Amino acid sequence: MMNRNTQKLFVAMVGLPARGKSTIASKLKENLRKDAIKTRIFNNGQLRRRLMRENTSYPEFYDPKNREGVKLREKIALINIERAKRYLEKEGNIAIMDATNASLNRRNTITNLVNNYPLLFIECINNDEEILEASIKRKTNLPEFQHLSEESAIHSFKQRINYYSSIYHKLQRERNFVCLDSLDNKILKEEIRDPLPYYDRIRDFLVTDSVSNFFLIRHGETYFNLENRIGGDSPLTEKGKAQARALAHYFQKKSVPVIFTSEKIRTIETADPIKELQAHCSIIPLSEFNEIDSGVCEAMSYEEIRERMPSIYASRKLDKYNYVYPGGEGYVTMQGRIDRGIKKALYLSGNAGNIMIVGHRAVNRMILSHFLYRRREDVPYIYIPQDKFYHIIATQDKKLFQLKRFEPISRT
Ligand code: F6P
Repeated sequence: MMNRNTQKLFVAMVGLPARGKSTIASKLKENLRKDAIKTRIFNNGQLRRRLMRENTSYPEFYDPKNREGVKLREKIALINIERAKRYLEKEGNIAIMDATNASLNRRNTITNLVNNYPLLFIECINNDEEILEASIKRKTNLPEFQHLSEESAIHSFKQRINYYSSIYHKLQRERNFVCLDSLDNKILKEEIRDPLPYYDRIRDFLVTDSVSNFFLIRHGETYFNLENRIGGDSPLTEKGKAQARALAHYFQKKSVPVIFTSEKIRTIETADPIKELQAHCSIIPLSEFNEIDSGVCEAMSYEEIRERMPSIYASRKLDKYNYVYPGGEGYVTMQGRIDRGIKKALYLSGNAGNIMIVGHRAVNRMILSHFLYRRREDVPYIYIPQDKFYHIIATQDKKLFQLKRFEPISRT
């Protein structure tokens, strides 16, 4: 290998569609650029859509037996490999080829052509059926599926995945590769035989749960809140609606492409006005973010629990984190679903710069403690007001937690 190329790296993504490759590629690029490491993405799908006038979103285009389709996709891949090499030849430090690169054939082509630079394959794996379904559903909002109904678009995308699966080989023989569980940010397999520039930094990035701007909001005031009642599915009061409108104005100038809520009326009513003032925004209710289920105490006030069920009241007070409501949940038992909800939300947000969750008091405490260390016994007491929200930045090189107030506004 020539000396002048030792600070250059060619990265090739690998994985079936909807496995998070593009999200990881673009977040990686942002991350590296902060350190003035010149990085560019060469995305085969984008190049195909730019170069070809005809619609290539129909599944048969991806059938390995469709010679015309195979030839065209190979041509696109070769153009992108050459462009990436030229970029490295000139000013670039890292070129990322973003494509499925699913077959051994394709990977051999890359290996043969990129012989002048160190080459790293990053494979993204996610076999979580439910999250894949949700991710595919989001993909069908892309312009290339707009001529189809949602149902046919989903069907078409799944067929495309099947065609790719039929030629897919996992990484195994390549000299330098890392297989990543892209939902859990966990390295499943790793083989690095050559000295690779930037690899320490890239590896650490791959295992970091990174959120550049995360807004954690609690729903506005509800009728149950007025009476200090827990659980239930109460709507917002007038004050709660005004809080939601104030949030909407606050976020009007930021782009929020998706708002995750629980399935409860109060979080959706808080998200609705925010969505209204956005150009493109959808609300995704996730059951993982439903408020703690207080079992036999649902819809009771804290005073009623103390009077009518004193032993429950006392036991919970003694060890609030580990206490589980009879017939319901405790903070301790919510942990699994909250972690899953966070993973789902991060995965489905793709590379959106702003991520928003509208949750509940106990839920938000748990979400917060995912990013901010707190002793377990302190988690059930984290301050979660209704007139402020948390702005969180958690990346490889920056951690920020800020509680921000938004000004309530009167009826508009
Ligand atoms: O707003 C009330 C509420 O969200 C209840 O639904 C829930 O049971 C409670 O807060 C959780 O807070 P704590 O664990 O402090 O009782």
